[in-house]
Amino acid sequence: MCSNSTLLIDNLMDLSHVAYLHKSTVGSGDPMAHVSAKFDVEERANGLKFTKWIFDTEPPAAFANLRDYAGKIDRWSEQDLFSPGSLFTWIGMMEAGAGAYESEQLRAEKGLTQRLFHGMTPETEDSCHYFFVWASDFPNDDMADSIWASFEILLEEDRMMVDAQAERNREFGEDHLVPIASDDIRMRVKRIMTRLKSAEDPSNAQPVAQV
Ligand SMILES: [Fe+2]
Repeated sequence: MCSNSTLLIDNLMDLSHVAYLHKSTVGSGDPMAHVSAKFDVEERANGLKFTKWIFDTEPPAAFANLRDYAGKIDRWSEQDLFSPGSLFTWIGMMEAGAGAYESEQLRAEKGLTQRLFHGMTPETEDSCHYFFVWASDFPNDDMADSIWASFEILLEEDRMMVDAQAERNREFGEDHLVPIASDDIRMRVKRIMTRLKSAEDPSNAQPVAQV
């Protein structure tokens, strides 16, 4: 349960928050690595897909014990959003410079990866349901248990942050909010949602020609 499904989606569309909110798990290390990460974005009529890349970096605390090789990694987080509230995530890591960025096939074959599903839907004006599903290709249950413990921490961090933000928005309104560079994808999603909502509005329907 969470206070606001729109803010939850906003949160997942701006992954710069990972460096600050999830420091103890998936966001450890240099915050600027998350802010200056490479983003590949692809808009669709019914949503948007983006992939965040951090190259040649130390694995975050939550992943440090999962790999079976030494040295730095390339890590990715692919987010595929289908309006209004279904998000498919593919996160993973590979040895740095081993071709992860160049080849999706290599990522699938050689990467240590996790698939997530986030389903978000409003319940009332001030509450929503958040369904979270997780699967991995980890070779043993200890690894799975370890990463799941991290997810329990970070899901609670997200919930607390979104609830606090909803409270602030209720108190002060949203007119004073100013998008910054890291809001780029979030703003793209807002435009797509607005377009889809407008298309569903019966008052915008085009008259059908009589024959
Ligand atoms: Fe988060």
